[in-house]
Amino acid sequence: MNNTEKFTFTDENLRRAQELFTKYPTENKRSSILALLDLAQRQNGGWISRGAVEYVGELLDLPYIRVYEVASFYSMFNLQPVGKCLIEVCRTSSCWLCGAEDIINHLEQKLNIKVGETSSDGMFTLKAVECLGSCGTAPMMQVGADYHENLSIEKVDKLVDGFKQENKQSRYC
Ligand code: FES
Repeated sequence: MNNTEKFTFTDENLRRAQELFTKYPTENKRSSILALLDLAQRQNGGWISRGAVEYVGELLDLPYIRVYEVASFYSMFNLQPVGKCLIEVCRTSSCWLCGAEDIINHLEQKLNIKVGETSSDGMFTLKAVECLGSCGTAPMMQVGADYHENLSIEKVDKLVDGFKQENKQSRYC
């Protein structure tokens, strides 16, 4: 799907969205915005297109800009297509003190991409993000839905090599 292509939920996701609305008072259905954006991102292969932002706005009776403000605020939402394997390295205090920068530099070299880029084969996207709430096991990174903690360069190598071998369709979902 390109960025401006019209987006609509599948029947199953529309059913889920309607179920979400029942959890909030009718006048506050916009409180479901994060859950709807998450649903849209999962359906759309790990990123949120402009069409998806517009669609969520239509569902919530919100202007595009209000939905975009939320989608662009949280690092969990990707506004560009991502690789099958989305690697998000925490770079906040604890992780930074425990070597996050070395891990990011190492991943940039190993994957031959810079932070914010996707490898040419579409396999890996590398992001540096703020605290993921796992400070006690720093340094850490999130890959798809999984946390990988107490990282070392060796551990990162093993993980990345494993992802390459698995070559799963997507680690996001
Ligand atoms: Fe990295 Fe909190 S500082 S998880």
